[in-house]
Amino acid sequence: MASGSFVSLDELQRTSRPSTYGPGASGDVRPPRSAAMARQQPLPEEYRHLSPEELDRRIGEARAALGQRLVVLGHHYQRDEIVKHADFLGDSLKLSQLAAGRREAQYIVFCGVHFMAESADILSSEDQIVMLPNLTAGCSMADMASLPDVLAAWDQITARCGVDVIPVTYMNSAAALKAFCGEHGGIVCTSSNAAGILGWAYEHGRRVLFFPDEHLGRNTADRIGLDQAEVTVWDPRRLAESREALDAARLIVWKGFCSVHERFTVAQIAGARADYPGAVVIVHPECRREVVQAADASGSTEFIVEAVEAAGPGSVLAIGTEINLVNRLAAAYPDRTIFCLDPIVCPCSTMYRIHPAYLAWVLDNLMDGRVVNRIAVDSRTAGFARIALQRMLDVSAAPGTARERMAAVA
Ligand code: 13P
Ligand code: SF4
Repeated sequence: MASGSFVSLDELQRTSRPSTYGPGASGDVRPPRSAAMARQQPLPEEYRHLSPEELDRRIGEARAALGQRLVVLGHHYQRDEIVKHADFLGDSLKLSQLAAGRREAQYIVFCGVHFMAESADILSSEDQIVMLPNLTAGCSMADMASLPDVLAAWDQITARCGVDVIPVTYMNSAAALKAFCGEHGGIVCTSSNAAGILGWAYEHGRRVLFFPDEHLGRNTADRIGLDQAEVTVWDPRRLAESREALDAARLIVWKGFCSVHERFTVAQIAGARADYPGAVVIVHPECRREVVQAADASGSTEFIVEAVEAAGPGSVLAIGTEINLVNRLAAAYPDRTIFCLDPIVCPCSTMYRIHPAYLAWVLDNLMDGRVVNRIAVDSRTAGFARIALQRMLDVSAAPGTARERMAAVA
């Protein structure tokens, strides 16, 4: 299936109504209680009728005219029609490093989701402007941990276990949660550095509170050799049970998940192996633990791209991640058999909200000297969040983490 045919622009417009979503909100789950609502204004009528060729022409013209003043960053899950306009593609870690390093760009247009654009704003300099083409591009997993719920959890966990707890937030979280980690001796991680970051956390405290992805937490525990008996789940809807289980826990994982990656199953892996004996199965670590255990390798989106490249002609690769990336890899490497583990197409519906019409609209406005859809994190939040993000970048730059990441190519 062509990646351009999942949802029409009209459908996107309808589901991008201003009242529907907030920062980081996907609409798939309840919106965060603490966040002020972001407003995606309706796309001007003319953009709804422009042909793909005209959208490409406008985007290309604006990029050429803005030159080095503009950088377009794209996450690997973006649709092809966006990817072709990105100056850089990457996973969350690589894109955050790029955002921190491209000081010459006055404008950073982030083709990804809300938490990524927030992180880019926090890591870029004060005079750089970050824009997200569609403000309703959130992440349903990020929405599963709100600041009030995390504050309540923190109070109860530290009351019961003492203060020797390090908070670690997955990149897929609101800036306020990154700030909470920065303010409480904690750190951010991404799927490509989670093991090294957890290792760092245990150098600084006996227990770790990890949010919002239960599966990444459990899978990372396996990577660092932590016994699953020492992992417990914090469910904000089951506080009494969550508290009871704390005493023996070294890793407390939040009950959150990615609706795209939870679709992958061990049965799909068995099916792929039956159909293609010798197939190599690679999944994202947001998949359930049993799926990661059954796979041959797991890693971030960048890791998956590199692993497919390294696999060589003739290889068969069954991939457990978002379909835009899998389809793109299949098209880029026709000499390999590459397919998605899930036979039913599973796009990240919020990544998909970055349609070329929104990108053209943002860039046309820039050409006219107007900034629309700016992502600007308030200075107090940004200050503490930067501490947690910078700790992550520093730990990721240390040699041990890189080695650990490469160890997954087993
Ligand atoms: P990566 O950091 O692996 O790109 O993951 C981001 C993400 O949201 C995966 O669902
Ligand atoms: Fe969020 Fe899942 Fe989409 Fe990644 S794939 S942005 S975790 S909803």
